Amino acid sequence: MPNVRLTDHLDPAYLRQALENDVRSGLTSRPKWLPPKWFYDAAGSDLFTRITRLPEYYPTRRELSILRAHATDVAVRSGADTLVELGSGTSEKTVLLLDALADRGLRAYLPVDVDAVTLGEAAERVAARYPGIEVHAVCADFERHLGLLPRTGRRMVAFLGGTIGNLEPAPREVFLKGLRDTLDPGDSLLLGADLVKDTGRLVAAYDDPAGVTAEFNRNVLRVINRELRADFDPDAFEHVARYDEGDDWIEMRLRATRAMRAHVADLGLDVAFAAGEEMRTEISAKFRPEPLAAELEAAGFTPAELYTDPAGDFALLLAMA
Ligand SMILES: C[S@@+](CC[C@H](N)C(=O)[O-])C[C@H]1O[C@@H](n2cnc3c(N)ncnc32)[C@H](O)[C@@H]1O
Repeated sequence: MPNVRLTDHLDPAYLRQALENDVRSGLTSRPKWLPPKWFYDAAGSDLFTRITRLPEYYPTRRELSILRAHATDVAVRSGADTLVELGSGTSEKTVLLLDALADRGLRAYLPVDVDAVTLGEAAERVAARYPGIEVHAVCADFERHLGLLPRTGRRMVAFLGGTIGNLEPAPREVFLKGLRDTLDPGDSLLLGADLVKDTGRLVAAYDDPAGVTAEFNRNVLRVINRELRADFDPDAFEHVARYDEGDDWIEMRLRATRAMRAHVADLGLDVAFAAGEEMRTEISAKFRPEPLAAELEAAGFTPAELYTDPAGDFALLLAMA
């Protein structure tokens, strides 16, 4: 397609080194942990899309409703002619932003994601829908490669879906400051954040009875089995979702249903699990509007507008660089 370009910062050697480092470090820690970005091979992205359609998973619907109501306002206030989207996935919700921006002179869309397959498909779809816009897909890690993103145009960086909540406070601070450093005055950030609410609803959103989130959670073991020749038995791990009220975050874990050992051949690593041992695979932090705005200010942004849905479940925060 003439208006699509792809830049790949995740060459196979880089990806492999990053996965090896994370798996070695996470599986030899106590308690064990794995970072959430490794959920997202093509199968993991498909499972995430299925999660977004579950009745219990309110964030996607709430964020969509906010975009339906306010995308035009966001487009006008940002004045952006270039939309950069971090962790863009299928770019489904983004269409609402793109429609509003396209009416006001949008020139380029740069989706950024670690999953090359989903990224490429989304870029093709967007390019077909907006033939006058340059679509430049960037396969990259938003925690590592912000400095490599193109710096042309008046940019708005969209970071939707509450993905910011996957970062713990210290890396989140580093990320937000790093992002601010790559922006110029007049650029903006549109940040989607899930808000603190009733614990029962929060846990239900991460522990659906159909077991889709459980399969998504176990997918990280399938990725490690395939990429590092490991022999995890994913079915021997139970999905756990728990809300930590002290930290205001959901923790997803995998709990060993029996004592077992797994061998990661490419790392020459043997990993022992006790029966009932839990390994953390994701946090999803929930936010309160004022402290979140303060975090953005501390990173050098000027919060401009907070948009929420009528139920106050989810927020989109527009902040200027
Ligand atoms: C929770 S999903 C959100 C997807 C989409 N933005 C939405 O709102 O539905 C997180 C997305 O971020 C991507 N992702 C996760 N960690 C990443 C990282 N470190 N760098 C780039 N993309 C990442 C995943 O592949 C996935 O598409």
